[in-house]
Amino acid sequence: MGVAVSAESKPEFIPNGPIPQHVGIIMDGNGRWAQARGLPRTMGHRAGTKNIRRILEESVRLGIKVLTVYAFSTENWGRPRAEVNHLMRLISQSIRDELDELDANGVQIRHSGRLEGISPRLREQIEYALERTRNNDTIILNVAFNYGGRAEIVDAIKEIIRKGYKPEDVTEELVSQHLYTAGLPDPDLIIRTGGEYRLSNFLTWQAAYAEYYATPTYWPDFDEAELRAAIAEFQHRERRFGLVKS
Ligand code: FPP
Repeated sequence: MGVAVSAESKPEFIPNGPIPQHVGIIMDGNGRWAQARGLPRTMGHRAGTKNIRRILEESVRLGIKVLTVYAFSTENWGRPRAEVNHLMRLISQSIRDELDELDANGVQIRHSGRLEGISPRLREQIEYALERTRNNDTIILNVAFNYGGRAEIVDAIKEIIRKGYKPEDVTEELVSQHLYTAGLPDPDLIIRTGGEYRLSNFLTWQAAYAEYYATPTYWPDFDEAELRAAIAEFQHRERRFGLVKS
């Protein structure tokens, strides 16, 4: 007995259609990408780092204004020490190798996360990269590093209390203004590679109305066509923000 399986219909990318202003990416699957090739996990992170550049360039071509990448979560400190050290070295190396070109291409680098806990040398490098690119406006590359969505909300609350706000002054707007992402638009689209369906403490507050897109593709293989496919899906969704269809 045959079972008719309709070819999965994938929405078409609409060249003049809506483009998300802010895209967040959970870059999962580096380790599995490497293991599938008989390579150490660290090679997966290396390939994943290279891929940020490919997706950043395509984001500029598409007109995306903010790209947030989840590079290191507060939970990632629990990984084997050698892997943590490797990730730290990769970030440091990327700043050293890529900063001139990113700056020349008008990329503004932002950091979302806690600076405490990061080595003083890397901290200095990050602060320098932020300062040097702060007036660039082609695209914002927001790196979520030593980032946790809940920690971010806790940090915002502490800051609000420290400044002496009264309970009646506390609004959603005020909280947003005290997050690491202050001044950035909320993400319209969150992409997760690597086949899981979790937010994993990523942009917990900001993603309240984001569209989600998950793909089994491992991050190092997520290319321009995959980004367009994610945006095509976004273009065919109807965003209601809790309202009813007009
Ligand atoms: C998830 O894959 C990926 C990470 C925890 C780290 C992602 C970091 C980078 C790509 C480097 C960032 C560099 C810069 C310059 C921002 P995984 O290790 O969880 O993969 P798995 O699920 O297959 O084990």
